[in-house]
Amino acid sequence: MSKHIVVFQPDGACVEVDSGTTILEAASAAGVSIDSACGGQGTCGKCKVLLALGRPGGSPGDRLSREEIEQGFLLACQATVEDDLVVEIPLESQRGEFQILMGQGQLDDDMIQAGIPLAERIGLELEAPQPGGRGGDDERLLSALRRLRADSFQDFAIDLGALRALPQTARDQDWKLDLLLADVDGRATVFGVEPAGSAESYGLAVDVGTTTVVVHLIDLHTAGFLDACASLNDQAAYGADVISRIIYTQEHKQGLAELREAVLNTINRCLAEVAGNHGIRAEQIIAAACVGNTVMTHLLLGIDPAAIRRDPYVPAVRSLPTLRAGEIGLAINPAAPVYLASCVSSYVGGDITAGVLATGMAESPRLTLFIDLGTNGEMVIGHEDWLMCCSCSAGPAFEGSGLEYGMYATIGAMERVAYHPDADEVEYTTIGDGKPRGICGSGLVDVLATLLRAGVIDRAGRINLGLPTPRVRVRNERPEFVLLWGEEVGRADDISLGEDEIQNLMRSKSAVFAGAEVLLDSLGLNALNVERILVAGAFGNYLDAENALLIGLLPDVPLERIRFVGNSAVAGARLALLGQEARQRVAELSRRMTNFELSVLPGYMDRYVAGLFLPHTDLSLFPSVAKKLELKP
Ligand code: FES
Repeated sequence: MSKHIVVFQPDGACVEVDSGTTILEAASAAGVSIDSACGGQGTCGKCKVLLALGRPGGSPGDRLSREEIEQGFLLACQATVEDDLVVEIPLESQRGEFQILMGQGQLDDDMIQAGIPLAERIGLELEAPQPGGRGGDDERLLSALRRLRADSFQDFAIDLGALRALPQTARDQDWKLDLLLADVDGRATVFGVEPAGSAESYGLAVDVGTTTVVVHLIDLHTAGFLDACASLNDQAAYGADVISRIIYTQEHKQGLAELREAVLNTINRCLAEVAGNHGIRAEQIIAAACVGNTVMTHLLLGIDPAAIRRDPYVPAVRSLPTLRAGEIGLAINPAAPVYLASCVSSYVGGDITAGVLATGMAESPRLTLFIDLGTNGEMVIGHEDWLMCCSCSAGPAFEGSGLEYGMYATIGAMERVAYHPDADEVEYTTIGDGKPRGICGSGLVDVLATLLRAGVIDRAGRINLGLPTPRVRVRNERPEFVLLWGEEVGRADDISLGEDEIQNLMRSKSAVFAGAEVLLDSLGLNALNVERILVAGAFGNYLDAENALLIGLLPDVPLERIRFVGNSAVAGARLALLGQEARQRVAELSRRMTNFELSVLPGYMDRYVAGLFLPHTDLSLFPSVAKKLELKP
């Protein structure tokens, strides 16, 4: 098989690959990131690249216009390497640096109580062995430890690795030691023996998201937040949602191993970055608390997730014992304990139990609806006495997937958008003040709301082609609205939203609203009974509450009842890292939350269909919006 060189511009990265390799695979081998939301299926059109030199093979796919093909554009996942190539990756096809959801998840500081962390470093002085004494070093260590920690633990143990280090280190250090102590499911376990006064120790709180992985570095001594890193999950190259990733594991012999490696690489890259920023060595990171949805938890551990999409739709694992970093593959102290939050069901995972923990809703008397809008839409309703949850297939449209100019919330994403019809102007802000590259979830909510207010779209999401503005046009037989003229910002193309994409977003918002409605209904409640709505997830930090109501994404409640809680999953992970009680609470929550399967509940599909209007076909459900838009019920 012949080999060829591929050079990727603008970075100049190059790689040698076998002929027949796709350009997308070559890019991955060269360490170059190309947006590939559909996982290389040729359906998303995100992996557009420009051929600068050479003759590729493969097919152009059916997501490019004739003009684009004439200009030399290719879909990286469909074109193959049959020659030496130079390929340019346009800005919009590059995966941007993530700056989203890095905050502390708006965790109330008073929730971080002094407790028993997942791991800690403690100083201990052992008695030296006495002449004639028969006790081993291990016994004297355990009795000293028991005296010190009798109030926190009943069971004590020492790992083999620590036993190996004990005799020499203790004698070299005149019996003054630092122990690395883990809470392994309630048993105090010594997993490291080091000279007294050794270096500081740190822990990680990790949100293993379908789209994004977020890693927080925590000082275990002070419980303080030190740094964060977020990255697109490398698994995104295998499909945008969990179902396509499960299918990948079924259709490829090494699929499960590949997906496991992809997410591990992402986490390890992030943790190396935060550790490097603070001059911290991997061994000094002595604990990690990870939360993820049920499929991501399976994939991270290399556990076959196939059963999740087969009747009766149960996961292989719902709760896990404390594991060790080495056996998972996390690049920290290999003996470090790794906690994984328990899941509720196949589609309500540990990210939700951790999120519920972080919001404090399970301890509050106030009826709370918690909605996590990520790649899927999960929601929990309840208070201190009961909790119900469900997951709806909202799809990743609000994360930009499936939309020509949709994008993740990265640098250059239009996050706030307003159309002023009198001046025919679109006002916008972008994340990081970057050059506009596309529209992220919060911007998409704004666009739907602002176009509805301005009469550009009707309540069915149809574009009014009769309006006297060039922004409304038909391109490739598709009605669309131009949000940004390319020439305004030096782009070759205009940023627009098509009527079909508006319908796609309406399907997503309707799935979320119908889920909330069915949950409320099954409990004999309505929106006005809800005392607060907490919104978390991919665009929770930026979502405009008024616009979210206007398009019918959230139930119609007074605006002051809606609060955005940012990344509640990573906030919950941090609580679990720092406190035994929090870890026990998450396990209890996973047992306590009653899961509803929306698909089998009567009325869900009808409500979903009824919600395919802005804000809804039934305006009596949205009285404040009807009033604002002067719509007659
Ligand atoms: S079209 Fe190539 S990755 Fe989606």
